[in-house]
Amino acid sequence: MGKPVILLPRPMLPVVTRQLTERFEVILPFNDIDPDAIVQAAAPRVQGLAVMGTPIDARYIERFPKLEIVANFGVGYDNVAVYDCSARDVVVTHTPDVLSDEVADIAIGLLIMTVRQLGAAERWVRDRNWLQKGSFPLTPGTLRGRTLGIFGLGRIGKAIARRAEAFDLKIRYHGRSPQADVPYPYHADLEDLAAACDTLMIAAPGTAETRHAVSEGVLHALGPHGVVINIGRGSVIDEAALIDALETDRIMGAGLDVFADEPFVPRPLLIRDNVVTLPHVGSASVHTRNAMGQLVVDNLVSWFEKGEAVTPVPET
Ligand code: DGY
Repeated sequence: MGKPVILLPRPMLPVVTRQLTERFEVILPFNDIDPDAIVQAAAPRVQGLAVMGTPIDARYIERFPKLEIVANFGVGYDNVAVYDCSARDVVVTHTPDVLSDEVADIAIGLLIMTVRQLGAAERWVRDRNWLQKGSFPLTPGTLRGRTLGIFGLGRIGKAIARRAEAFDLKIRYHGRSPQADVPYPYHADLEDLAAACDTLMIAAPGTAETRHAVSEGVLHALGPHGVVINIGRGSVIDEAALIDALETDRIMGAGLDVFADEPFVPRPLLIRDNVVTLPHVGSASVHTRNAMGQLVVDNLVSWFEKGEAVTPVPET
């Protein structure tokens, strides 16, 4: 019997491509002059997909009659139509745990940057304003005394909470259901959480359920000292409502690592000193991305050797 056939629709890290090539027949169409013809020719034999951000919907998987597994690079898998994959008995895996600390570090970094306007302060030095105009203006925001509402207390949310405790922040949370093993107050309603906090940390996945969950009402409930940090998915915030809340001073600021239509970032978010924008770098260190890549490989190897995925996506 030949080696299982794995398709990588787009390039992945060398740690992934090298190991997959050693164990599987790997189709890498993207270097070819006509990638789609390569995919088309291989489609009847493809048993696994290794993907990073590629949208995988019902029509896409229809092309591969022998498909058994979609190994997604990333803890978030909003790019994969899990329901359609399950309907075809195609297993979907993701890369949890290995990135939680890295993303939580960025979440806290973004929070401090936003509250103390560190992006603007850094530009102040680069633009020679320190030399020519003097000290950077005092920031109206401080971390002292803040109450942090975490939307999505999963692995990443909990890693953020551990760090936030070290900054003496009070913590509350909202999610699908209360968790027995956490000491923080739970709010069944997101707007209710926002009203009890002045800092909202979005660590929720991008799903149909969370889409635009951070609405005008939630933003206004945070109040004029309110700060929103998003390291989850851009779709969770109603971006138009966020821009309006910032422009009308209904909230104090926002720190965003993720956006609704990446890599596009709406101009109103780019021109304000009370907004910090990052290019979706939550997990983007070599160390962590390699660990995520290894998990993609481990899932495919385990599936084809033992018929078991290491980290299948949770059942909904
Ligand atoms: C993920 O893994 O989902 C993060 O957003 C990093 O890409």
